[in-house]
Amino acid sequence: MFIANFLKYLLYIFSTGARCEVIEVFAEAGSQAVLPCKSNTLFPTPSTIVWSKDNEGTVWRKQKSGLQYWGSNWVKKGIQRVQCPHYQFERGDYSLQINDLKENDGGVYSCRVTLGNIVSENVVRLRIIKVSVSQSFPIWGSDVSVTCDVTPWPYGASVQWMLNNNLFVSRSIISNRNTPKSTVREKATARLTGNWTCVVGFKGKEGRASAVLSVQGFIQPSTDNTKVYVAVGSAVTLPCVFSPGLTPSSPGWEKLKPGSLFKPIPGHLPLSFSQSLSSSQHSWDRSASLKEVGFEDEGRYRCSGTLQGQRLTRNMQLVVAKINSNISKKKGSVTLTCQLSDTTEVTDYEWVQVTYDVNGTQSVGSSHKGKTLSISSMSEEKRSEWTCRFYGKGGILGNITYHVPLMSGLSGQKQTNSSHNTAAVIGLSFLLVILLLILAQMYKNHQRRKKAFQYPAMETIVHNISNEREERAKRQVKK
Ligand SMILES: *[C@@H]1O[C@H](CO)[C@@H](O)[C@H](O)[C@H]1NC(C)=O
Ligand SMILES: *[C@@H]1O[C@H](CO)[C@@H](O)[C@H](O)[C@H]1NC(C)=O
Ligand SMILES: *[C@@H]1O[C@H](CO)[C@@H](O)[C@H](O)[C@H]1NC(C)=O
Ligand SMILES: *[C@@H]1O[C@H](CO)[C@@H](O)[C@H](O)[C@H]1NC(C)=O
Repeated sequence: MFIANFLKYLLYIFSTGARCEVIEVFAEAGSQAVLPCKSNTLFPTPSTIVWSKDNEGTVWRKQKSGLQYWGSNWVKKGIQRVQCPHYQFERGDYSLQINDLKENDGGVYSCRVTLGNIVSENVVRLRIIKVSVSQSFPIWGSDVSVTCDVTPWPYGASVQWMLNNNLFVSRSIISNRNTPKSTVREKATARLTGNWTCVVGFKGKEGRASAVLSVQGFIQPSTDNTKVYVAVGSAVTLPCVFSPGLTPSSPGWEKLKPGSLFKPIPGHLPLSFSQSLSSSQHSWDRSASLKEVGFEDEGRYRCSGTLQGQRLTRNMQLVVAKINSNISKKKGSVTLTCQLSDTTEVTDYEWVQVTYDVNGTQSVGSSHKGKTLSISSMSEEKRSEWTCRFYGKGGILGNITYHVPLMSGLSGQKQTNSSHNTAAVIGLSFLLVILLLILAQMYKNHQRRKKAFQYPAMETIVHNISNEREERAKRQVKK
């Protein structure tokens, strides 16, 4: 009994297997599928063609007379979702096109073509692939999942994920040969933004479907700890831009303690720091500006804002450049050193001379490699500047310019040395005091002469007395 049943079963398998091979077709939901049905025997026109779906009856049918019929499920508001282009019939091609695929279009279809008294049948299994995301615009840091569904699921298939056409390999992919789906679960970061494609391989056929994910959060700076380079004395913008359309609540800026990743220095933003929105700024642009950067403003800053209950923060580092000049009066030269508050990204320094002609047109002259530059004060005649350009691996990071002062200031006659200055000041004050004393004496003499004019005889006497008094005083001082 058992053996008989088993044989019957085997017979059944062989008969169905032999009757026709099932053709696998993958198609993405929403797109068009073409279900092949080809015949080797060429007849000018077949008498009847019938496409039907398992358990759902006729999909489309053409009768001997040429009349076509559509199954009720395949016509909506007079528009047929399926068609069988007749211009291909003479090539023996009776393939069925299905537009605007739905997940439940997946299943087994059969095509029966009657050519005279020969009936041929093709069986096609249509599998609909669909990729869906838990949220199209998840907020940075929230949980996000991307799921690949295939209807009906091909058990034993291989599933691969691609993100922006690169293979995405991660432990966060939950694929199980026994569960009819594959899911990627991650915390939303910028890395996940892009075109997600699920690639399903099965029996030598491949199907793929895609969905786009756009993580919302900071778009600028794109990564934490971005360095912003600025020359001392110039203005700078610290970028902090959220995804367009977002309005972060309680946005703000802080300066962080040196060496600490998270601790802010309360109330320690530079004086010229401006974080108020200008009228041209969007609600998602919280960039701040510093009008005139001082060397002490260097350090790390943090911009933050709350989106859907998540506090998002972005750290960045302000690197300030300055030029130290050392004037040597002996050699008549100036040594310039390009100094940055953080040099970890700097690979190269270059000094270039910038000159201006009468029209003020800028031209770049000679250049020198290196952090320091020695220029001879004598050789400079025109108004000129030296610019220090500093480079990182990816190219130029910034520059800072030194304006060469007027050459007489360096030529040795008039030193800007501080000790010389004090000596000059002391000397000048001394001269001034003496001058005042002389003036006072002259005034005294003048007054005396006026009195003596009234009593002419008195004049010489008074004069003599005062002279004597002065001499006495001098002698006393000497003792
Ligand atoms: C996503 O990638 C797939 C496959 O590379 C491509 O066919 C599709 O057009 C892409 N979609 C978008 C929106 O870029
Ligand atoms: C300036 O240069 C002199 C000699 O060239 C050197 O002794 C001195 O230390 C330098 N001063 C600074 C501040 O670099
Ligand atoms: C300065 O400008 C004038 C007029 O614009 C022009 O004719 C002249 O050639 C310029 N000189 C230089 C040195 O560029
Ligand atoms: C210095 O940088 C500014 C702004 O990036 C640029 O306009 C200028 O041409 C640079 N100067 C030199 C000499 O490279």
